[in-house]
Amino acid sequence: MRAVVCTRFDEPESLELQQLDTPGCPSDRVRVHVWASGVNYVDALFVAGKYQIRPELPFIPGSEVAGEVTEVGADVGGWSIGDRVMASVGLGGFADEVVVHPAQLLRVPEVLGWGQAATMTQSYATAWFALTRRTTVSPDEWLVVLGAAGGVGLATIDVARALGAKVIAAASSTERLRVCIERGAHGVVAYGEEPLKERVRELTGGGADVVVDPVGGELSDAALRSLGEEGRLVVIGFAGGDIPRLPANQVLLRNRTVVGVDWGAWAMAHPDDNAELVGEVLAQIDHGVLDPPEPTAYPLAEAGRALRDLLERRVTGKICLVS
Ligand SMILES: NC(=O)c1ccc[n+]([C@@H]2O[C@H](COP(=O)([O-])OP(=O)(O)OC[C@H]3O[C@@H](n4cnc5c(N)ncnc54)[C@H](OP(=O)(O)O)[C@@H]3O)[C@@H](O)[C@H]2O)c1
Repeated sequence: MRAVVCTRFDEPESLELQQLDTPGCPSDRVRVHVWASGVNYVDALFVAGKYQIRPELPFIPGSEVAGEVTEVGADVGGWSIGDRVMASVGLGGFADEVVVHPAQLLRVPEVLGWGQAATMTQSYATAWFALTRRTTVSPDEWLVVLGAAGGVGLATIDVARALGAKVIAAASSTERLRVCIERGAHGVVAYGEEPLKERVRELTGGGADVVVDPVGGELSDAALRSLGEEGRLVVIGFAGGDIPRLPANQVLLRNRTVVGVDWGAWAMAHPDDNAELVGEVLAQIDHGVLDPPEPTAYPLAEAGRALRDLLERRVTGKICLVS
């Protein structure tokens, strides 16, 4: 099989496309031919050796895949050759083939293409977890999402709209906000060009009810201050690199709340609850309520370029590798 291999902890350009022996499929596993692999920020962290877990070298990065079942272990029930599936695999996804435990598999909804299926699980599950489990958003509340043109950002726009919220998409430039308007944002703030707090307060008539923050850095402070009475700052990630220190007096004022979201850890600790959560997301997709965006596709051989473009913010929305 073809696979993208990390032979040393380094920049994305150090990744190598290699021809490897196809792994065997034990009796309790399922083999999947991968048609698309999702490209995520975490993959770049693994390749750089900067993730909490440092895999043994060499390893194949890639945490999300979608494809077709090509072999079913003798002890596995419920799956057949030809089934359209997607899976969170942790590592190993940047390859033609993966061999996975059947518990990792989900059926791809009819309406989704391979690229959508390979790129939606992490971003949609995170957004759905944030807005239905960690906090809630009521119809007609104002929700602001930072990094709105990114993977979590676009998923949050979709989820928040489905829950009835009025959505303000916030991103670094007017150019990056174009896709957010196409995806149904009711208002926009280009925080690289105008002040976030003042603009949010203006658009919402006093303050946001919820701000979803996957970016961090200085923006988090402005986001907290942009909240109205009983507003919730939902901390999802630090794509900007800097972990903010938030002023407690700004949490006290207006009875605000800061809410942490760690979907990955929760999903591992509560697999049954997570299966229910992901089931809810897939049902919403089946019913046409949620509509994951089509990612930008790169050939498998160009994984390094795809990761570089993600890190340099050259692409809006999600990226996938296709074989
Ligand atoms: N807590 C959880 O459960 C969970 C789950 C999934 C992901 N995450 C985390 O959430 C964050 C966002 O994930 P994502 O998939 O949305 O990533 P993404 O697609 O790369 O989007 C991140 C956004 O952050 C903004 N940004 C600001 N400074 C940046 C920088 N220096 N480099 C890159 N982006 C920068 C960019 O928007 P602008 O240019 O418009 O500012 C970009 O669109 C990541 O840190 C990820 O690890 C957390």
